[in-house]
Amino acid sequence: MAKLTAQQIDQLLKAAEAASGHAYAPFSKFHVGAAILTHTGQIFSGCNVENSSFGLTNCAERTAIFTAITAGALSAEHELLAVAVVNREGAVCSPCGACRQVIFEFGPEAVVIYRAKSGEIAQTLAKELLPEGFRLR
Ligand code: THU
Repeated sequence: MAKLTAQQIDQLLKAAEAASGHAYAPFSKFHVGAAILTHTGQIFSGCNVENSSFGLTNCAERTAIFTAITAGALSAEHELLAVAVVNREGAVCSPCGACRQVIFEFGPEAVVIYRAKSGEIAQTLAKELLPEGFRLR
């Protein structure tokens, strides 16, 4: 597990929290924010974006990852280091299955930070959340 500093974890959670304030979630009213850490130490955040055609909803984690890709800050060359996810309802919220697959694509060893059932902030790895995950490279 890439060792994150307490400061990095705090920055990721704060960025995710700020992003959750921009969530477009008129249907579920479940406001989610995510933040990712790249190999250069840059943080990119994202929120969930819902749609009247429900299946088009994009989760916060994927928004953050796609934003970093678009900015040229995340690619096949360097692995994603960490992902933090928070929600405004204080609910337990580890990444959904689709997001686990997308996180795994960019960093099987990425640290994933989220609120666990215990109420504690949990830290695990993408490869632990998605055992025997699929990746073509
Ligand atoms: N959601 C996320 O953004 N990330 C997750 O890890 C779980 C679910 C969003 C999708 C949808 O807008 C709302 O939460 C309810 O499922």
